[in-house]
Amino acid sequence: MKLSVYFTPLGLTPAAVAGKPVIVLDVLRATTTIVAALAHGARAVLPTASSDEALNLAPNIEKKDRLLTGERRCVRIPGFDLGNSPLEMTAEVVAGKTLIMATTNGTPALVAAESGRPVMVGAVTNFTATVRAARRASEDHDEVAIICSGKEKFFALEDAYVAGRLAISLLSGKSRAKNAHHLNDGAVAAMDLARRYGTDWKKPLLASHAARDLIELKFKPDVLAAAEPVRNDIVPVYQDKRITLSGR
Ligand code: MLT
Repeated sequence: MKLSVYFTPLGLTPAAVAGKPVIVLDVLRATTTIVAALAHGARAVLPTASSDEALNLAPNIEKKDRLLTGERRCVRIPGFDLGNSPLEMTAEVVAGKTLIMATTNGTPALVAAESGRPVMVGAVTNFTATVRAARRASEDHDEVAIICSGKEKFFALEDAYVAGRLAISLLSGKSRAKNAHHLNDGAVAAMDLARRYGTDWKKPLLASHAARDLIELKFKPDVLAAAEPVRNDIVPVYQDKRITLSGR
């Protein structure tokens, strides 16, 4: 298998991932929030590269059917309906709605990865389902790219750790013959990092810069919720500008 981990989407060209299985991670918090929204019955999430783009898209959807959601510096964008908290995404709030979402790192990373097929939305909360879906998707290509959203264009510990855990899971059971796998340096480093931290999801998530910022702003429950594995047996898929459970 060819496995590549990118610690940020910077430098990623559409051609590098076009038609190939991709997993996008923004564990704290955009991809965790998207998983929560779809698990609680949201119709779709439309990720945008900027809050202006989100505002421009809004008039295309009837007001009663849409929610503008997203953050700047971790807090809800003024005038938006929701922030970027997985705990806000309750069935009462999101069921049947289309969320138009703008976040600092997560939604731009999804937009950067949109030429992949499929583009899977990964998190700790749907980890097992993501491994299963990525294995299935890689049957045709024997290739997976894991794209970490990072933090403001830099490396983010929580995404890199989860990328490493995904890489280890995807390779386990595959032939260990020399040269059987083609790993980029990102994949090698992410797996080493994951081994160093071990299997307690909370440890690396809580040690991250993103967690420190979130905790300072009283979002510790979000960090703990994002570190809770096997909550959601779903894998949202981004296709044709929409993230849904069916990929359409
Ligand atoms: C992002 O997309 O930049 C993050 O999810 C930020 C946040 O935690 O709200």
